[in-house]
Amino acid sequence: MLRTKKDKTPIWIMRQAGRYLPEYLNVRKSVSDFLEFCYDKTKVVEVTLQPIRRFGFDAAIIFSDILVLPHALGWGVRFEENIGPILQQFKSNNDFADLKENPSKLEEIYHAIKIVREKLDKDTFLIGFAGSPWTVASYMLEGRGKQDFSVSKKFVYENWDLTKKLIDFITEKTILHLAAQAEAGVDVLQLFDSWAGVLSGREYEELVIKPTIKIVTNLKKLFPEILITGFPRASGFMYEKYIKNTKIDIIGVDQFVPIEQMKKWREKVIVQGNLDPVILLTDKKSIAAKADHILENLAGKNFIFNLGHGILPSTPIENVEFLVNHVRQYKS
Ligand code: CP3
Repeated sequence: MLRTKKDKTPIWIMRQAGRYLPEYLNVRKSVSDFLEFCYDKTKVVEVTLQPIRRFGFDAAIIFSDILVLPHALGWGVRFEENIGPILQQFKSNNDFADLKENPSKLEEIYHAIKIVREKLDKDTFLIGFAGSPWTVASYMLEGRGKQDFSVSKKFVYENWDLTKKLIDFITEKTILHLAAQAEAGVDVLQLFDSWAGVLSGREYEELVIKPTIKIVTNLKKLFPEILITGFPRASGFMYEKYIKNTKIDIIGVDQFVPIEQMKKWREKVIVQGNLDPVILLTDKKSIAAKADHILENLAGKNFIFNLGHGILPSTPIENVEFLVNHVRQYKS
């Protein structure tokens, strides 16, 4: 089920295609608008393959963004340099009128997946992805990158039925987006729920767990072979419930989860994570020590080496090279 290179611990890195790579910046500078860049299949293919060429990771992740889905449906989304995403704000039931577009722009992404799958060697996984409904909704409700989530959470508490309607809508569209990526040839689908951890109790249950169950059930019906990764970042005590109830195949683990928990979980699911991305800003000795601690506990069974969150743009490339070689040389 889990193909690996010569039985070594598989490794890839969240946000592995991106601003820490000079070759990415070089292609990126040819298009000023980030979303336009995401719909340019030639450029998408190129930047998806860049980290594979450089580091030989065991998986490629198609270059895209979680916010292409609302954008392709007609929602106002733009990216501003040094600020991040700025979105039209979802305020009332009338706003569904702006979510009607046929997301034909996404075809470019599916086409890019076909090309990348043909170019990759067969031992390298190809990962497709989407944002989880709550994480995408939180951007639509806040209108921009945020600090305390007070706008989106206040909306949830005050407009429960409308929130559920929005989550249901995004869930349906996410299933279609992921199914099209599976159809185009990805081996794994990852759900990025970067902001799952700001919810708790009933809200976590209804807006994180239930939509994920729906997504997993529908996709498994259509593609029984596909592996599905859930990454409910910063879920703390809710991680366990998420794993048990959603039946995802792979659990993405942030850097705040103790390694003993990961050891326990991998009896039931494949675990992926959880090196702190900040460690890659330090020196080789510190990187080796942290990586060894993870490898000593988890290498050899149901484990994919990764970071606990995306790689930081200021990461020195030689540290990534060092990490990959270090993980590859480790004998479990
Ligand atoms: O290599 C890969 O992992 C594939 C590419 C990828 C991007 N975004 C490219 C990107 C992936 C998997 C994402 C996921 C994503 N996008 C998430 C979930 C993961 C996480 O980091 O929590 C989220 C929350 C987003 C939304 C988003 N996109 C934000 C908040 C920003 C601005 C902040 C930032 O990190 O730059 C983006 C922009 C973005 N997405 C960039 C890249 C390479 C930088 C823009 C640029 O190159 O000009």
